[in-house]
Amino acid sequence: MDSTGTILMPPGQSTFAGEVDALFYFIFWVGLIILVGVLTATLYFVFRYRQRGEDDPGLTSGPTHNTRLEILWSVIPTILVFFVFAWGFKTYLKMNIAPRDAMTVKATGQKWFWTFEYADGSTAVNELVVPVHHPVEVLLSSRDVIHSFYIPNFRVKMDVLPNRYTKLWFEATEAGTYDLFCAEYCGKGHSEMKAQVRVLGEPEYEKWQASSANLGEGLSLEEFGAELYASKACNACHSVDGSKMIGPSWKGTFGKEVRHTDGTTATSDENYLRESILDPQAHIIAGYAPVMPAFQGLLKDREIDALITYIKSLK
Ligand code: CUA
Repeated sequence: MDSTGTILMPPGQSTFAGEVDALFYFIFWVGLIILVGVLTATLYFVFRYRQRGEDDPGLTSGPTHNTRLEILWSVIPTILVFFVFAWGFKTYLKMNIAPRDAMTVKATGQKWFWTFEYADGSTAVNELVVPVHHPVEVLLSSRDVIHSFYIPNFRVKMDVLPNRYTKLWFEATEAGTYDLFCAEYCGKGHSEMKAQVRVLGEPEYEKWQASSANLGEGLSLEEFGAELYASKACNACHSVDGSKMIGPSWKGTFGKEVRHTDGTTATSDENYLRESILDPQAHIIAGYAPVMPAFQGLLKDREIDALITYIKSLK
């Protein structure tokens, strides 16, 4: 069930978005009606029973109770609360139990990007590709701190914890590209920790599956490296024009003598770059913080070769 977007939320494009929105707006409008009612009554009583002049003793006595009124204001809210509970619980169960035929994608959060691993073993950074009209279960974990996996258009959000798995599922109802945010403050790069969900129609999805196995075929190593620079989110921390970001710029880095935080130096050659990508904590360049995630297991050999070739080309 789709729902249209409002000033409060983007359009809902998953099977349960309509249900989530209906419950949200029910609570919103009931809450607003009660708020207006209570405020109006308060203002009326303040005016009606105000002190009229210096010698007005004010209200000295009044009704002590009204049984009918008290039953009404106890029973009506109780019914409302149980109604909201039953409605919410029904939707909660639906959102928490993935259909049996759901495909599974593993998503890992770490400072400050998302990695997706598909059933065939292929991985991608900051881009999740799924078929439309098919349930997708996402198994979540974190490599460092607590993150939160949030896709506003699908009305799904789940905490992502280190040393524990959490999961959620959704079924997209419309092809398109949607934002995926980290919704838990996780440090300096939190606001940059965003990815995209690309929902593809059946034929496009099959085509994508066939092509995702290719490792930059038809591209030179340098071109493939330039593509990986963006697709693996290296560009979040490294510039290619010499400007200083969270990490050192890649421009002119090859063949240079680098100084580490522990005072040692090294020449930045192929083996040095390879180590810096796979095990970045081994040597930290002076002036930078040890924040780069290890890409061990996330990159294939041809991808590492391509990145090194690209860095070499940035003179
Ligand atoms: Cu990860 Cu905020």
